Amino acid sequence: MSSIDRISRKPAPPIDDVHVNAAAAAEAAENTTNHRVDTTFDKFHDRYSTRSLGLKTSPVRALFAVANRPEVVSLAGGMPNIADLPLDVVGESLKELVDTRGAVVMQYGSGQGEPEIREHICEVMAVEGLIADPDDVTVTCGSQQGLDLVTRIFCNPGDVVMAESPAYVGALNTFASYQAEVIHVDMDNNGLVPESLREHVTAARRNGKSVKFLYTVPNHSNPSGISQSAKRRREVLAAADELDLLVVEDNPYGLLNLDGDPLPTLKSMDPDNVVYLGSFSKTFAPGFRVGWVLSPSFVRDKLVLAQESATLCPPVFSQFAVSSYLAHWDWRAQVGSFIDMYRARRDTMLASLADTMPEGTTWSRPSGGFFVWLTMPGAVDSAAMLPRAVTNLVAYTPGTAFYADGRGQRNIRLSFCYPTPERIKVGVERLAGVIREELDIAKTFELADGRHHLRDFGPGPNLA
Ligand SMILES: Cc1ncc(COP(=O)(O)O)c(C=O)c1O
Repeated sequence: MSSIDRISRKPAPPIDDVHVNAAAAAEAAENTTNHRVDTTFDKFHDRYSTRSLGLKTSPVRALFAVANRPEVVSLAGGMPNIADLPLDVVGESLKELVDTRGAVVMQYGSGQGEPEIREHICEVMAVEGLIADPDDVTVTCGSQQGLDLVTRIFCNPGDVVMAESPAYVGALNTFASYQAEVIHVDMDNNGLVPESLREHVTAARRNGKSVKFLYTVPNHSNPSGISQSAKRRREVLAAADELDLLVVEDNPYGLLNLDGDPLPTLKSMDPDNVVYLGSFSKTFAPGFRVGWVLSPSFVRDKLVLAQESATLCPPVFSQFAVSSYLAHWDWRAQVGSFIDMYRARRDTMLASLADTMPEGTTWSRPSGGFFVWLTMPGAVDSAAMLPRAVTNLVAYTPGTAFYADGRGQRNIRLSFCYPTPERIKVGVERLAGVIREELDIAKTFELADGRHHLRDFGPGPNLA
């Protein structure tokens, strides 16, 4: 039996809603004559907005089906490991909520979000030294919706957003959905390179482009795992100030420092020029979909209008559920135990990479968050290699997902958040074997470094 045969044949859930369900199509064909049975024809295909055509299936979503197969070690997704949450405590507080305040917590609420959760959000931000007024907070459905609303209120089609290289795939999709153009700014081991920011913004403006903001994840970036040093934060803010450029700081991993204390947020360093996105997804649970935007008051007013047009109000029950968890549980200690768990997983991944990876492979050494960014030597294409990796029972996210311009072919994002240390070790060993084989093949076909066909866009982060 080949290793692919060992993978369960259970069909993957549909990942593309425009595809007609095969069973429904067959039934329709039985009931009508002259009815086409093409299972992929979409009769609305010529009616979708230009905006919708820019949307790509997220490789992460496509991989969910693979990740769920028990034989495959998935180093692909970014799901937090919430198995250690006190589910009994959460359950009791939800019951109490319904029993005592059911008519309020299941009602419509404020477009800006409930005052109670906005107070709690300020307490959470204070742990990172970010002191804020609840009035400047807008609650969103996860920070993903924060990104959506911020892009909605700032970007017209054709406007430019500056982003890290590589950048969070969910943000790239949001920018694409508003037809904004993404220009990647170079990174090194200390984060964004201010000179590159200056160069790219100046060049874009010279070409008549309207550059709307810089999008950055300064703490334990997804996907690179890199954090901006304190000095670099000051330099990036100074460059943004000089360029009169708004900064959008996305900070879902800020409390997950595995090696020390948090560095100051960009928002605390330059409150008037930074819009800050936060989330409970990584420090509590993503299922409640509660995130937030902290912004200057004029921006907040626009965000609330945008939130009202999108959802009327963010989910009230979720906001109360999160408030209740924060009030009833020692959430700081809980974050501490998440940190211990993720540190053990990160350390296992780094040790396994050092033990197994072929010479010339490099990777980042994150001080927090969920991800390691790996660079393969030679002419190896991570997207083309993925089916072979899955055949060998390991999955990852190809680097190309994190660039809007086709880069990332030699890169892989590995996540250490979800699998156990034992599984991480096995997964990395399998991946090392796959990369070795792929390098051998590349060598055989004379595609090795120097003569390779892959596009090379310069150094990117020096992750050696
Ligand atoms: C950098 C970054 N921003 C935003 C999000 C979205 O998180 P949320 O669950 O708060 O919408 C994620 C999720 O993985 C992320 O990694």
